[in-house]
Amino acid sequence: MTSPEAELARTIGADGLRRVVFPRERIEARVVQMGEEITRHYSGSPDLLVLGLLKGSFIFLADLVRTIRLPLHVDFLIAESYGAGRVSSGEVRFVYDPSVRIENRDVLLVEDIVDGGSTMGVVVPLLLGRRPKSLEVCALLHKRRVRLAKEPRWVGFDAPEEFLVGYGLDHAESFRHLPFIGSL
Ligand code: IMP
Ligand code: MG
Repeated sequence: MTSPEAELARTIGADGLRRVVFPRERIEARVVQMGEEITRHYSGSPDLLVLGLLKGSFIFLADLVRTIRLPLHVDFLIAESYGAGRVSSGEVRFVYDPSVRIENRDVLLVEDIVDGGSTMGVVVPLLLGRRPKSLEVCALLHKRRVRLAKEPRWVGFDAPEEFLVGYGLDHAESFRHLPFIGSL
């Protein structure tokens, strides 16, 4: 790969990057569209809570909330499923569970990527048990490998069956700060 993106990838140590999958401009444009749809969906909601699943969603969430034209609160949930590998272990571990009130609020869960569905399979029932007024999921990427009990209402892009990094997504904690999404 030879391009400004490849040069940048090398600078941050992502030498093994095979290709750019979602360029920066494409992500930006899609995030704005999603923000508009979310704004329309929740207009009139007095109590929106945007809950980001860390760490992968941190950049997406930061960009997304700035496109939502409504009052809202932000909090985070930390779950881990991958360890250092490239294949989901299927085991989801909570590292941080927010004490923020969920009951009777409109909760929008923001996820970086849905792969095998284990994370959503654990987090969604956990949140529903806290009796939100509504619960919707917004995922930047969806690999469409599985059908979820609760599919995200908003999906940025269908993702290819490749291991993706950048824009929050990591491999063994590296490459999260790549400003575009590439495949390793
Ligand atoms: P799932 O639980 O199998 O659906 O996997 C979801 C989690 O695995 C996401 O929140 C990501 O943190 C991670 N993940 C899944 N696919 C990828 C990928 O292609 N690159 C980086 N992380 C991924
Ligand atoms: Mg991860």
